[in-house]
Amino acid sequence: MNKFTQFNNRPETSHGRRDFLKVGSAVAGAALAGVATARSAEAKEDERPLKLGLVGCGGRGTGAANDSLTINEGVQLVAVADIQMGKCQSAAKGLANRHKAKVDVPAERMYDGLDGYKKILDDKEVDVVLFATPPGFRPYHVSDAVAAGKHIFSEKPVLVDPAGYRVCVKAHEAAEANGTAIVTGTQYRRQTNYIEAVQQIRDGAIGDIVSATTRYCSGGIWYRGRSKDVSDTQYQLNNWMHFIWLSGDQICEQAIHNIDAINWVMGGAPETAYGSGGRFRRPADSEMWDSMCIDFKYPGDRLLSFMCRQLGGTKGANGNFIYGTEGTCHIPAMSGTSTITDHKGQTTWSAKGSIGDAYKQEHKDLIDSIRSGKPIVELRQTAESSLTAVMGRLAAYTGQEVTWDFVTSKSTLDTMPKNLAIDDSRPEPSFAVPGVTKLV
Ligand SMILES: NC(=O)c1ccc[n+]([C@@H]2O[C@H](COP(=O)([O-])OP(=O)(O)OC[C@H]3O[C@@H](n4cnc5c(N)ncnc54)[C@H](O)[C@@H]3O)[C@@H](O)[C@H]2O)c1
Repeated sequence: MNKFTQFNNRPETSHGRRDFLKVGSAVAGAALAGVATARSAEAKEDERPLKLGLVGCGGRGTGAANDSLTINEGVQLVAVADIQMGKCQSAAKGLANRHKAKVDVPAERMYDGLDGYKKILDDKEVDVVLFATPPGFRPYHVSDAVAAGKHIFSEKPVLVDPAGYRVCVKAHEAAEANGTAIVTGTQYRRQTNYIEAVQQIRDGAIGDIVSATTRYCSGGIWYRGRSKDVSDTQYQLNNWMHFIWLSGDQICEQAIHNIDAINWVMGGAPETAYGSGGRFRRPADSEMWDSMCIDFKYPGDRLLSFMCRQLGGTKGANGNFIYGTEGTCHIPAMSGTSTITDHKGQTTWSAKGSIGDAYKQEHKDLIDSIRSGKPIVELRQTAESSLTAVMGRLAAYTGQEVTWDFVTSKSTLDTMPKNLAIDDSRPEPSFAVPGVTKLV
């Protein structure tokens, strides 16, 4: 098939659609050389929106779709999936109210149930899938999406256990091989005051890194009680934060943001984790712990002192300090100002950043990378940060020192139930007890 027939024949498969988008710039070269027919065809196709599908129509899924539709021209939401049809309907309606011209989700493109996401992957119209379900599903959904040739936005964390890590690594490699873009929801990597602070550190503004502190300490988090006549699985999927196979506990679900920032600063994952914590005031069936403190040791004997906590009535703290031989860099979480101070306490540098901008930038980068034919693939990086969080959790849960080598290549922990069905019963919740809970 020559490039002109490619222009005139809309490719049949979603993979074909993506290849087609990627050849845009090469064909543009021919058009500029004077091929008028190709130029006008290209102009038409450039106007064709990239079509989005959303999987997981809760708070962040709706937010992520809104961010993409807000920041990008030439995108259109055409399909949604959630285990609950009501969530599909309300997300599509809310987004259509805000972005009339960019949302066209008819009832036949709203897919419910645990397999709803597969219908989006089978939908040849959909170019890009946004995943914002509970994270336990993420490795398997993302891996299926890569195999289906869809571009991907994946919320963080991208896994909750070592089995999920190995699935993500394979999916990353497959994405690189087949030209699938994967951008992840670690938005601080796209926030100005983070980017500039990391650059300052790289340029030697605090000397050599000695250690770091990161904290994600806040009040409590939501708990969605059980309603009548729902199965154990329905209940746990709705109240997913409190079940480890779905959320990975606070360290993985939430504090991954700060762990990811420190892995970025340190240039990779830590070698070991050793830590402690406990469960004091969670609701009776919540498997989550209230707090964890972990020492992560990075190559070069650099120590990260990490703490996370969700307990009402305690003092909040959320941000990162990086200590160097010549100064300290503070990078606060959310929107704020990063600073560097020298050992005399003088502020020598500062930069502001907005988390709202960062949430949008990740979607701009994704769409731009697809359009330019240079897809960003960042799954492995976020898989490493997610696994760092899992490594910390396992150290606290078991009371053992856990190594990176163990979690990447020896652990057999796989928390995702086999053949999950929506009406299934689930085992009673289980609570980790250091010294008793085994490291597997
Ligand atoms: N980047 C950030 O700052 C940020 C902020 C909040 C949440 N998140 C992440 O976004 C994800 C979703 O969080 P949320 O706050 O939107 O939760 P939520 O409970 O509001 O939404 C989750 C949705 O997924 C649906 N769902 C559950 N299992 C599903 C499945 N197998 N297939 C399809 N749909 C399914 C639920 O019905 C629900 O509508 C989590 O990974 C969370 O960590 C990221």
